[in-house]
Amino acid sequence: MKKIAIASDHGGYELKKNLIAFLTNSNLVINDFGPTNPDSVDYPDYGVKVVKAILENKVDRGIVICGTGIGMSIVVNRFPGIRGTLCSDLNTAKLCREHNDSNILILGGRVIAKDLAMKIVGIWLNTEFEGGRHQRRIDKINKIDGKVNI
Ligand code: RB5
Repeated sequence: MKKIAIASDHGGYELKKNLIAFLTNSNLVINDFGPTNPDSVDYPDYGVKVVKAILENKVDRGIVICGTGIGMSIVVNRFPGIRGTLCSDLNTAKLCREHNDSNILILGGRVIAKDLAMKIVGIWLNTEFEGGRHQRRIDKINKIDGKVNI
């Protein structure tokens, strides 16, 4: 059974709640890393919780949500091994899995319609990485990690 970590800030709180309800009867274990109410919080604090869960192999993949998705994108992609992908359309949701082996889906809770977000999540969860030439490119990204000079 796939384990999914999810977190947001206040800008993504409502969409996170809706997503958790949407995924409740799915074949997934959902670990909610907060927040537990819509009060204002700082997105880095919650983005790193999902990163940590993935890098420690406690979950398979993660979903993070802030107002635009930009703050969470900046945070999660600072960590080697994380491939966070901000999605606002269905094709990107599919291609970021097939080509980029996305391990964190990033959504903007204030800029995306709820129904579209659910469809994006469904596609992202159910699309497999294609490997092959795409794996070669990810290997190159992994070699860049931690280098100051390219
Ligand atoms: C919070 O007000 C907002 O800045 C945050 O949710 C996010 O959009 C940042 O990128």
